[in-house]
Amino acid sequence: MEYIRFYEDRGLYVVKAEGQYVWDLNGLRYLDFHTGHGVAFLGHRNPRIIEALKRQMEEVITAPPSFRVKIRDEMLQILEKIFPNKYTHMAMFNSGSEGVEIAIKLVRKATGRKKLVAFTNSFHGRTLGALSITGNARYRRPFEPLIPHVEIIQYNDVSSLDKIDGETAGVIVEVIQGEGGVIVANKEFIKALKERANSTGALIVIDEVQTGFGRTGKIWGFQHYSIEPDIIVAGKAIGGGFPVSIVATSSILASNLEYGEHGSTFGGNPLACAAVKASVEVFLEDNVLEKTESIGKILYDKLYSTLGEHRLIREIRGLGLMLGVDLRINPSSVIKCLQDKRVLALRAGTTTIRLLPPYLITLEDVEWGVRALAQCLNEELSSRTTIRPS
Ligand SMILES: Cc1ncc(COP(=O)(O)O)c(C=O)c1O
Repeated sequence: MEYIRFYEDRGLYVVKAEGQYVWDLNGLRYLDFHTGHGVAFLGHRNPRIIEALKRQMEEVITAPPSFRVKIRDEMLQILEKIFPNKYTHMAMFNSGSEGVEIAIKLVRKATGRKKLVAFTNSFHGRTLGALSITGNARYRRPFEPLIPHVEIIQYNDVSSLDKIDGETAGVIVEVIQGEGGVIVANKEFIKALKERANSTGALIVIDEVQTGFGRTGKIWGFQHYSIEPDIIVAGKAIGGGFPVSIVATSSILASNLEYGEHGSTFGGNPLACAAVKASVEVFLEDNVLEKTESIGKILYDKLYSTLGEHRLIREIRGLGLMLGVDLRINPSSVIKCLQDKRVLALRAGTTTIRLLPPYLITLEDVEWGVRALAQCLNEELSSRTTIRPS
C-alpha cells in the first residue's frame, strides 16, 4: 500500500530524532527548524514526556471521556497554570482542525447566530468546517460548496472589520498567520477587532494551534495584545509530539453545548493527557518562555545582521521562535538547498521561508542555520539572471 500523497515528498527518511536534531538513513544529522509544522517545539523525544508516556502505558491507555481517569484530572489541574483564570473549561481532541470544529459549533450555539468571519490568508485546518473559514482559496475551492454563512475579510485592515455585525456568531483569527506567510497582526487591528466584536456581540476565537504554548515568547500569542478571546484553540506543540488539541473557554460558554452535541472517541485519551501534563511540566520547569524569548531574539538579530540587506530578501519578521524570511522569489529551491545543507525549514504563503525551531536550540545551532541560509541565498542569487517571484 502507498501513503496518499497530500504533501510533496521531501526526500528525507527520518530514522532518529532527539532534541533539535533528526537523523536520516545515512546517519546524517539535520538541524530541525521545521519541527513537523511546529509540533516538536519542546524538542524531539523530550525525556520527561517519554517517561510520562511510558508510565501511563503501564496503567491505562484508553478510556472514553465518559469515564474518569487520574491522569486527566492531573492534567486539568496543571493546565490551570498556563491558562488565564477565565478559561475554566476545556475539551480535548486529536488535531487542530477538530479543535476549530468545536469552536465553530460553540460560537453558533452560544449566540444563536450563523455567520462566521475569518481572514484572508488564514489557515484553520482541512476538515470541512475549518476549511470553510480558511482564507486561502486554493485550499477551499476544490471542495466547495463548504459551510455557508462565512465571510472572509481583509487581515490587518481595520476598515474591513465593519463586516463583523449583529448577525455574526464568531470571528476567528490567528495573531500570527503561520501557513499564510508568518504575518503578524498589528496591535490596532486586534484592538479594533476586539471593540467591534464586543459592540456587536460576536464571539472571538483565537486559533493558537501554531502560535500557542510558548512559540512566540508568550504562553499564548494573544498575550502580545490586550485581548482575551472567548475561545482558545491550541494544538501542535501542546502535546510535546503526541497528537492532541485543546479548546479552552469560560464556563458560561461551555454550558451551551449539551450532552451528545459533540464528542470524540479518542478525545481526552489517557496517553494524550499524560503527554500534555508532562509538556506543561517541562514548559514551566525549564523556563521555556524565557529561553524562547532570548534565543528567538538572538536568531532574529543574527538573521537580520547577516541577511537584512540581502537582495533576495524582502523582510524578516515574526515573534519568538516563529520567524519568517520573506523572499522576492519562490522559496522552494532555497528550502531544498537548506535541506542539502542539513537544515530543515518549511514554506509559508507563496514567498516565505518559515523557521519553527524548538526552544532548546543553541548559539551554535543559530550559527549553523543562518550560515546555511546565507550560503543558499548566495548560491541562488548567483544562479539567477532575474529576481522575480514565480
Ligand atoms: C493556525 C492553525 N490552525 C489549525 C491548523 C490545523 O491543525 P491540524 O493540522 O492539526 O488539524 C493548523 C495546522 O497547520 C494551523 O497552523
